[in-house]
Amino acid sequence: MTEPSGASDPTAFEEPAVNAAVLGSTDDSTGGFLSGEGDPSSVEQISPKPPRIIALANQKGGVGKTTTTVNLGASLADLNHRVLVVDLDPQGNATTGLGINKQVLDETMYDVLLNKLPIDDCIEPTEVRGLFVAPASLDLAGSEIELVSAFSREGKLKIALKEVENEYDFILIDCPPSLGLLTVNALVAATEVMVPIQCEYYALEGLAQLSRNVALVSENLNPGLEIASIVMVMYDSRTKLAAQVVGEVRSHFGDRVCKNMIPRNIKLSEAPSYGQPVTIYDPSSRGSVAYRELAREVSNGV
Ligand SMILES: Nc1ncnc2c1ncn2[C@@H]1O[C@H](COP(=O)(O)OP(=O)(O)OP(=O)(O)O)[C@@H](O)[C@H]1O
Ligand SMILES: [Mg+2]
Repeated sequence: MTEPSGASDPTAFEEPAVNAAVLGSTDDSTGGFLSGEGDPSSVEQISPKPPRIIALANQKGGVGKTTTTVNLGASLADLNHRVLVVDLDPQGNATTGLGINKQVLDETMYDVLLNKLPIDDCIEPTEVRGLFVAPASLDLAGSEIELVSAFSREGKLKIALKEVENEYDFILIDCPPSLGLLTVNALVAATEVMVPIQCEYYALEGLAQLSRNVALVSENLNPGLEIASIVMVMYDSRTKLAAQVVGEVRSHFGDRVCKNMIPRNIKLSEAPSYGQPVTIYDPSSRGSVAYRELAREVSNGV
């Protein structure tokens, strides 16, 4: 399927180094524009606003990347934004969490990255109006290895997204829990990085490495890329530890830490087994309310 028709028509810190070798060639691109006709002095140039492409990354597993991708995506769509979730994790949790059965998919992000399939051909609608998903399945796991010898291996996703970027306001990329080529593809395609951090002990583990990788990609492949936001998730206001972790993260990242934190909430963990974002599964739950607030903050209230 192709057209997103849904939305209301707007037009303690150390780790071993990762694939620095993975970071190689660059490819650049610019947004196009449509120009008006007639008197050149009155020519109106309408630039389609490029989407914000947000990579949700943290190589630590189980920290809330997918939960945040799915529910932030649904909440942004509820604010009438056109949203595409790109599932770049072979586990395919964002895909199933959005109600898509991985077993019956003919075409997935694997084909986009390895077989030059236009991304439009694998995009599926979801139950949420204005929210679409480019699904993943287990074969994506092989792509980490298969991509190694591919031409422009770090830029595959960026090139694929160029075809559809004018159709969306936000593209959220759910990264796998590693810093391999799939995550590098996400970082090269992204305009910003969002890092979900669990309000637990060792929350900061691995962040130095992630920051270094983002800096490497920014220097070599995607100028200007930075960790733009940190989302504190699984926050339990009853524990001292959670407040301490938030304090420590704020001392490192200052106002890049989102004001809205996501509480630990059972509805958030139940919703994926129904193939629904929490905003549909239980719209009035604390988890749902928190992601809606976060969506407002992320989209600057728009
Ligand atoms: N705020 C929350 N409250 C309660 N449970 C949560 C919350 N956020 C996430 N979970 C649960 O924690 C688990 C891990 O979350 P999630 O899958 O989003 O993490 P992840 O970083 O994407 O994991 P992976 O690294 O494996 O991709 C899931 O079972 C999810 O339902
Ligand atoms: Mg995940």
